[in-house]
Amino acid sequence: MSDDVVSATDPDWSRENVRSFWDPGPKLLRAIRRYQVAQTRGGLIGKLASKYWVLMHRFWSVMTQCEIHLHMPIAGGLRLPHPTGIVIHPESSIGPNSMIFQQVTLAGPCKIGGHVDIGAGAKIIGPVTIGDHAVIGANAVVTKDVNAYETVAGIPAKVISTRQPD
Ligand SMILES: CC(C)(COP(=O)(O)OP(=O)(O)OC[C@H]1O[C@@H](n2cnc3c(N)ncnc32)[C@H](O)[C@@H]1OP(=O)(O)O)[C@@H](O)C(=O)NCCC(=O)NCCS
Repeated sequence: MSDDVVSATDPDWSRENVRSFWDPGPKLLRAIRRYQVAQTRGGLIGKLASKYWVLMHRFWSVMTQCEIHLHMPIAGGLRLPHPTGIVIHPESSIGPNSMIFQQVTLAGPCKIGGHVDIGAGAKIIGPVTIGDHAVIGANAVVTKDVNAYETVAGIPAKVISTRQPD
């Protein structure tokens, strides 16, 4: 699942490219990105654009049954390969080039580092910090901080391996 070549600091925006008309993950993210741009732009155009992207966000949130807040700080390059049932606390933050699979919950403020992969069904109970290049196993329940390059799994999540930085 993880690829250490992926940067934890430089966002790879191509990971968010919309590839087809029906591409819920990138389209949900695009609504959030464009809304945030429209908010900073301000003025009448910014206001109208904000309203449009709020509608788009609502549409894709219903389609995916995801709750990812419009104001969330999400660094570029987030991948949502199967975007269903993802719930993210609005006080969480997500670093560059991370990946979140289906049915993941970030409960409470979770600081997710760069290039963190979060497996299907994982629950991360904040406040916690997940280090860069960490991997969270499917269905893990994470209640404590995870260091960079660690892979954790199980309930409660324990370290099952630690990779070496390149
Ligand atoms: C956590 C994960 C990354 C570990 O992969 P890995 O490094 O190749 O680890 P291994 O398969 O060698 O397993 C190592 C040990 O951890 C256990 N383990 C692996 N994943 C686990 C998980 N999610 N929950 C509990 N235990 C797990 C294995 O049973 C094994 O235990 P053992 O040493 O007692 O036999 C992977 O198992 C995982 O959960 N990936 C998420 C995949 C996913 O969600 N994909 C979405 C597709 S739609």
